[in-house]
Amino acid sequence: MAVREILEFPDSRLRTVAKPVVQFDAALADLAQDMIETMYAAPGIGLAATQIDVHQRLIVCDVSEHHDQPLVLANPRILAQHGGQTYQEGCLSVPGIFADVDRALFVTIEAEDLSGKTIVLEAEGLLAVCIQHEMDHLQGKLFVDYLSPLKREMVRRKLDKRRRQAATA
Ligand code: NI
Repeated sequence: MAVREILEFPDSRLRTVAKPVVQFDAALADLAQDMIETMYAAPGIGLAATQIDVHQRLIVCDVSEHHDQPLVLANPRILAQHGGQTYQEGCLSVPGIFADVDRALFVTIEAEDLSGKTIVLEAEGLLAVCIQHEMDHLQGKLFVDYLSPLKREMVRRKLDKRRRQAATA
């Protein structure tokens, strides 16, 4: 098991549309375990395979207080959603940047677990935010895409500047 490198905005690989998971084997379980470890190490509350440059429809989330209840969803799809909420989101691929994003408050998700069994899950609040955010990654979409082009450009410049400072430090 290993902590993987997380791609950072504006890396074009984050724009890749992931393919459905079709093999529910040991390699998939290993990938999920690496994603969970990478998420905890960051630390973060969610990660999509896209962010570690694996383009399969697999996400992990853990919004529990003690980070000991990881949720793994393969091929997640939204069956129903309602209500609205605004949450100040961040993203491990856009480090240090936070911005308000509007999303559904309640979502009903259908997905496969690691054994390939179909599960249905109802999520609300932060878990609903997390799942919707991670599902966006699988489509090559980032939370900064909800911002105005001007704000997104400011984010890009801020990250550039921080990387330059880190390189010369
Ligand atoms: Ni993210």
